[in-house]
Amino acid sequence: MCGIVGYIGQRNAFDIIIKGLKRLEYRGYDSAGIALINNEGKLNVYKTKGKVSELENHTIDKDISGNIGIAHTRWATHGEPCTVNAHPHFSFSESLALVHNGIIENYATLKENLQSKGYIFKSSTDTEVLIQFIGHIMESNDIDLLTATQLALQEVVGAYAIAVLEKNNPNTIIAARKSSPLVVGIGENEFFLASDATPIVEYTDKVVYLKDEEIVAINREKDIKIVNLYNVETTPEIKQITLNLGQIEKGGYPHFMLKEIFEQPGCIYDCMRGRINMEADNVVLSAVIDYKERLLNAKRFVIVACGTSWHAGLIGKQLIEMLCRIPVEVEYASEFRYRDPVINSDDVVIAISQSGETADTLAAIELAKSKGAFIYGICNAVGSSIPRATHTGSYIHVGPEIGVASTKAFTGQVTVLTMLALTLGKANNTIKEETYLSIVKELNNIPEKMKKVLELNNQIIELSRMFTYAHNFIYLGRGFSYPVALEGALKLKEISYIHAEGYPAAEMKHGPIALIDAEMPVVVIATKNALYDKVLSNIQEIKARNGRVIAIITEGDKILSNIADFCIELPDTIDCLEPLVATVPLQLLAYHIAVCKGMNVDQPRNLAKSVTVE
Ligand code: G6P
Repeated sequence: MCGIVGYIGQRNAFDIIIKGLKRLEYRGYDSAGIALINNEGKLNVYKTKGKVSELENHTIDKDISGNIGIAHTRWATHGEPCTVNAHPHFSFSESLALVHNGIIENYATLKENLQSKGYIFKSSTDTEVLIQFIGHIMESNDIDLLTATQLALQEVVGAYAIAVLEKNNPNTIIAARKSSPLVVGIGENEFFLASDATPIVEYTDKVVYLKDEEIVAINREKDIKIVNLYNVETTPEIKQITLNLGQIEKGGYPHFMLKEIFEQPGCIYDCMRGRINMEADNVVLSAVIDYKERLLNAKRFVIVACGTSWHAGLIGKQLIEMLCRIPVEVEYASEFRYRDPVINSDDVVIAISQSGETADTLAAIELAKSKGAFIYGICNAVGSSIPRATHTGSYIHVGPEIGVASTKAFTGQVTVLTMLALTLGKANNTIKEETYLSIVKELNNIPEKMKKVLELNNQIIELSRMFTYAHNFIYLGRGFSYPVALEGALKLKEISYIHAEGYPAAEMKHGPIALIDAEMPVVVIATKNALYDKVLSNIQEIKARNGRVIAIITEGDKILSNIADFCIELPDTIDCLEPLVATVPLQLLAYHIAVCKGMNVDQPRNLAKSVTVE
């Protein structure tokens, strides 16, 4: 949440920074601001409510010169989204400007203390407290900005990624992080700073990922110097990024979300590449092989995740229990971290996260680690905090996901969970050779089957037009399709703001059935799997109450095509792989309904892609 960009070098900072902010808008987009030092040494700060484009309009006739600057796109935590609360914030003497991602938990105490010394605050943010605090330490002790920042951060409780500009020192940016990501890009006589590598990739492939409680001094004429809060210096670890520009642009699609939905066949292929052999008869997840004993000796797996990743976890539970016969619990990371869970040293915790930065998931990992559990991460963002905090894990390799509503990350996570269950089950001898081979072979066919589903796009556009009127939706599924129903409902509410509930189909009669009338669209995943007959009965119950059924069925199912109001036909597959195929039409349905309603699909209201606050 909140995106930070910075630049120092020979070029005009404004253009690079604005472009970078736009790439980070997925992290938050309720207000934006920029601080630049011009060649006369003037510190100019511009802020607006709304998106980065508003900031661009606002600065058309302003002095935007200078080759050093920092900027921010905000997702409000403390204080409503408005110009005053937008970042950058000034120190009292206005000689320092700061942008911040995260939450300063003890801001109220710090603020009270500063107020008692006569400091006055313009905004309601915790961020302004931090910069006034840094300014106070700097001025009252007559010390440099780096030292003042170190001393201030020693007192701070909470999470932060910050960047600070000092009017009287136009050759340096000071930045620091704790529990919120920050990356430094190293170019030729220029440096970049960003919350992730996407604003940097265009200029350099050399980056340094800051670690917790590290502060970097980026100097135009020298280099970067990294110290911790107690001034112990460390050598920067320069990494090479493999991202390319094409991966972070829309590539002709109207929205990132649609692009990412259509990328899924390729993503699943990339996710399996090097893990499933050419003959499609063996899966090797290197992380499992390296830690085989530890994983197989687990008494229990506990999956922790949030949002869409939690839905993938529900599918993972069924896969691991079915193929490995090891009990699995699935927990919301936010609940798990605060409820004193029973965790033992023979537990394996699987943390699933697209961004690798979700604060609750990170905290759940730390808690489980402190109790001796072994932690396996399943992440997308390479080099992010969660992979660094885990003992081992597997990347899903689906490329950057920019649309706020998660799509290809979900199917990537399910693919990795399938490969994990297969690898463990084989090593554990809990899976019959025949079953193993049939699943591996079929997994290999999934990208082609997804392509067939994507061919239904036009049919789904037509269907979507009929349902833009709806105020409510119900999604039903059983077995492996139950988490798919939850995910379908989540997609719809996230981007179209239509209220949608996902339910296990048989639970419907214990409450939600009361909602069914001729106005209520009910999406039912009713493919020809082991629970087909049961779901068929559930559909009859809905039809008996005049509900409008949109059934996701297996190609050629004559029975349901006569009963349901609308059908979307999917290629047949093995039950446990069905989520990979059945999720796709639900993503398209949500997408097209939202587009028909004129919603901002890629940046839905109130949401952010990377939730680095609890
Ligand atoms: C946010 C995003 C969701 C995502 C969830 C968990 O709410 O909007 O799309 O599923 O965070 O994020 P993670 O990066 O940990 O998968």
